[in-house]
Amino acid sequence: MAAAGRLPSSWALLAPLLAGLALLGVGPVPARALHNVTAELFGAEAWGTLAAFGDLNSDKQTDLFVLREKNDLIVFLADQNAPYFKPKVKISFKNHSALITSVVPGDYDGDSQMDVLLTYFPQNHANNELGAVIFWGQNQTLDPNNMTILNRTFQDQPLIMDFNGDLIPDIFGITNESSQPQILLGGNLSWHPALTTKSKMRIPHSHAFIDLTEDFTADLFLTTLSASSSFQFEIWENLGGNFSVHSILTKPQNMMVVGQSAFADFDGDGQMDHLLPGCEDQNCQRSTIYLLRSGTKQWVPVLQDFNNKGTLWGFVPFVHEERPTEIPIPITLHIGDYNMDGYPDALAILKNTSGSNQQAFLLENVPCNNVSCEEAHRMFKVYWELTDLNQIRDAMVATFFDIYEDGILDIVVLSKGYSKNDFAIHTLKNNFEADAYFVKVIGEYSK
Ligand SMILES: *[C@@H]1O[C@H](CO)[C@@H](O)[C@H](O)[C@H]1NC(C)=O
Ligand SMILES: *[C@@H]1O[C@H](CO)[C@@H](O)[C@H](O)[C@H]1NC(C)=O
Ligand SMILES: *[C@@H]1O[C@H](CO)[C@@H](O)[C@H](O)[C@H]1NC(C)=O
Ligand SMILES: *[C@@H]1O[C@H](CO)[C@@H](O)[C@H](O)[C@H]1NC(C)=O
Ligand SMILES: *[C@@H]1O[C@H](CO)[C@@H](O)[C@H](O)[C@H]1NC(C)=O
Ligand SMILES: *[C@@H]1O[C@H](CO)[C@@H](O)[C@H](O)[C@H]1NC(C)=O
Ligand SMILES: *[C@@H]1O[C@H](CO)[C@@H](O)[C@H](O)[C@H]1NC(C)=O
Ligand SMILES: *[C@@H]1O[C@H](CO)[C@@H](O)[C@H](O)[C@H]1NC(C)=O
Ligand SMILES: *[C@@H]1O[C@H](CO)[C@@H](O)[C@H](O)[C@H]1NC(C)=O
Ligand SMILES: *[C@@H]1O[C@H](CO)[C@@H](O)[C@H](O)[C@H]1NC(C)=O
Repeated sequence: MAAAGRLPSSWALLAPLLAGLALLGVGPVPARALHNVTAELFGAEAWGTLAAFGDLNSDKQTDLFVLREKNDLIVFLADQNAPYFKPKVKISFKNHSALITSVVPGDYDGDSQMDVLLTYFPQNHANNELGAVIFWGQNQTLDPNNMTILNRTFQDQPLIMDFNGDLIPDIFGITNESSQPQILLGGNLSWHPALTTKSKMRIPHSHAFIDLTEDFTADLFLTTLSASSSFQFEIWENLGGNFSVHSILTKPQNMMVVGQSAFADFDGDGQMDHLLPGCEDQNCQRSTIYLLRSGTKQWVPVLQDFNNKGTLWGFVPFVHEERPTEIPIPITLHIGDYNMDGYPDALAILKNTSGSNQQAFLLENVPCNNVSCEEAHRMFKVYWELTDLNQIRDAMVATFFDIYEDGILDIVVLSKGYSKNDFAIHTLKNNFEADAYFVKVIGEYSK
C-alpha cells in the first residue's frame, strides 16, 4: 500500500482529471448556497495560478501548488490555524524559464518524497517546445538547488502515467528526438519509445491514463489527428504494459471547436463514460456537451441550451499562440459529485457571447427530460444564478476541491483582475446542510 502513495495522489488543475467520487446514491439534493472562505484560507495571499494539489510534507493534508509572476512556484502548506494555507516553500525558475506552464507533483524517483515536475517555455528559445524540469523532494520539502532538467523538450504538456506498472510515475509525450511518443521512466529516468503510432497528436492534447476497457487496468486514451487531419480519439489497451490499439473514434460530426475530454460514470452504471465539451461554430455561439457512453459509438448531446434570460452563454474558444504570455486554458469540464447524489456534476467557464464577461457555472447531472438526451438517460442542468459563484467576474478556471477534507467538494475559482500576470484565487465552501442530507439518506433507505 505504501508504494501506491508514490503515484501522483495529487493532480494537475489545468489538465483533464478524474474526480468521480462514487458515494452513496441519495437522490438529487438541490445546490445550496456557497460560502466565501477565501480570507480564512489564504489571508492576504489569495493570488496566483493554483495549479495543482498534493501532500508535499507528508502530513496527510493536501497542500496547494501556486504559480506566481510566471516563474515562481509557491507551495502553500496546510496549517491548523487560519489562514489555513501558508506560503512556505518557494522555487524560482526565472533564470531558465520565460513562463512555467504546468506543475505536476509526484514521486518521480520512488524515494517516497514528493517531487515536482514543471514544464516551461525556455528563455531565449526560438521554437515553441516545452522544457521540463524535476525538483527533487527531500526532507519533506523541495530543494530549490536540486533539480534535473530533462534533456529533451516536449511538443505539448506531457502526460503523467504509470507506463510500466511499477507505481512510479512516468512521463509520456512527443519529444524533440522523435515523432513517435516516448516515455521517460520514473526511477532511473531512462527514455524509451512508448507506442508505434502514425497519428499526430492533437495540441493541446487531452490524453488520459484511465481504464476504458473494464479490465481494472488503466489504458491510454489519446487525442489525435486522423490522416485527413480530423480530430479523433484512440484507446490503447494496456496488456501487461504493452499497449495496442483497441478502438478509434471520431469526434461528433458537427463539432467545430473540440474541447478537452473528461471521463466520469455519467449515467451511474459503474463504467467510465466520455464527456466532450465543444462548439458547433468557430466562435462558440452554439456550445454543446456530448456524451459517449461506455461501450457505445454514438455521441449524445447532454447540454445544448446555453440561454438564460436573454443572454446566450458559450464556451471560451481556445486561441493557439506560438509563444503564449499566459498559461493557455482550453475548454475544460471539471468533474465532481457536488451534491453527493452519486452522479458526477461539472464546473465550466462560459462567456457572455455578446458581452465580455465570463463566469464559472455549476452543471448538475439530472435525469434526462428531453428526447435529445434519451440515449444518455441523464443530462446537465446549468445553475445560472448561484450566488457567490456568479459574483466572480472574468473567471478563468473553476474546479472542485475538498478544502476541509470532509468528503464534501468545495469550489476553487481563478479569475482575472489581480494583476497583469496573476489570477485572484477564490474559494467557496459547499454549504451542504448536514441535517438535510442525513434525513435524505434515511428517507432513501426506508423506502
Ligand atoms: C471573498 O472574500 C474575499 C476576501 O475577503 C474578497 O476579496 C472577495 O471579493 C470575496 N469574493 C466574493 C465573490 O464575494
Ligand atoms: C540567476 O542568474 C543571476 C544572474 O545571472 C545569478 O546571479 C543568480 O545566482 C542565478 N540564480 C539561480 C537560482 O541560478
Ligand atoms: C531535515 O529537517 C529537519 C528539521 O527541519 C532538520 O533538523 C534536519 O537537519 C534536516 N535533514 C536534512 C538531511 O536536511
Ligand atoms: C538531490 O535529490 C536526490 C533525490 O532525492 C538525492 O538523491 C540527492 O542526494 C540530492 N542531491 C543533493 C546535492 O542534495
Ligand atoms: C539524456 O540523459 C540520459 C541520462 O539521464 C542519457 O542516458 C542520454 O544519453 C541523454 N540523451 C541525450 C540526447 O543527451
Ligand atoms: C532536444 O532538446 C534538448 C534540450 O533542449 C537538446 O539538448 C537536444 O539537442 C535536442 N535534440 C534535438 C535532436 O534537437
Ligand atoms: C530503467 O528501469 C527500467 C525498468 O524500471 C529498465 O527497463 C531499464 O532498462 C532501466 N534503464 C537503465 C538505463 O537502467
Ligand atoms: C509485451 O511485449 C514484449 C515484447 O514484445 C513481450 O516480450 C512480452 O511478453 C509482452 N507482454 C505481454 C504481457 O504481452
Ligand atoms: C451580456 O452582454 C450584453 C452586452 O454587453 C449585456 O447587455 C447583457 O446584460 C450581458 N448579460 C449578462 C447576464 O451579464
Ligand atoms: C430538446 O431536444 C430538442 C431536439 O433535439 C433540442 O432542439 C432542444 O434544444 C432540447 N432542449 C433542451 C432544453 O435541451
